[in-house]
Amino acid sequence: MKKKLIAGNWKMNGNAASNQALLQALLAQSADWQCRVAVCAPMVYLDQVKGLIQGTAIELGAQDVSAHAAGAYTGETAADMLKDLGVRLAIVGHSERRQYHAETDAVVALKAQRALAAGITPIVCVGETLAEREAGITEEVVKRQLAAVIHANGHCISEIVVAYEPVWAIGTGKTATPEMAQQVHAILRAQLHAATEHAARVHILYGGSMNAANAAELLAQPDIDGGLVGGAALKAADFLTIIAAAR
Ligand code: 13P
Repeated sequence: MKKKLIAGNWKMNGNAASNQALLQALLAQSADWQCRVAVCAPMVYLDQVKGLIQGTAIELGAQDVSAHAAGAYTGETAADMLKDLGVRLAIVGHSERRQYHAETDAVVALKAQRALAAGITPIVCVGETLAEREAGITEEVVKRQLAAVIHANGHCISEIVVAYEPVWAIGTGKTATPEMAQQVHAILRAQLHAATEHAARVHILYGGSMNAANAAELLAQPDIDGGLVGGAALKAADFLTIIAAAR
């Protein structure tokens, strides 16, 4: 069986001192880890984090990648640049980027493509808003979001990580019940199966108020292969409890 993956998404939080303290606290316990662990740090701290986790069990992740390869795109970071820095994973299509930066399914698919071409694993986020869940179109929404990435990436699709993050559960303290999450994960797994014979090896992470108290139940679901953790990833004790629940 594949190892679970617990990825922390630090979002726009922290500073050099807090990054160091957090990583030191995590690494002090890393001998016991049964799962893969990654941290997705802000771009400006990737180099610092890289230095602190080199040769350890923590994998380096970014929170975004440009849809463009190179050129006049002020403020953007190319996949090749991330690769150059030793980044292994990059979140693409996080709902905060879809919402605040108007990223469309097509842009997200392109970002996943750029990451894959550079040898970086895209963590492709999908998820419905509260209005979409209440309208009964959750399945339609997440399938549309994933279909765009499948369509653009063809046979490479087994190299991606998918993160199901219901928008209404992000940062709200409201978590999808394990059954609700599993139901959507199974839909996404079936969609991957239709696209690749290697669907079973794709990690499908749950994200949205995953915390020390609810992680074990969520991670016990058959199609939940890990977590994409926001707020709780900033507290060493909480993140370590989630990591310990992933076995
Ligand atoms: P929270 O864990 O803070 O709800 O954030 C989830 C998330 O958006 C991870 O990418």
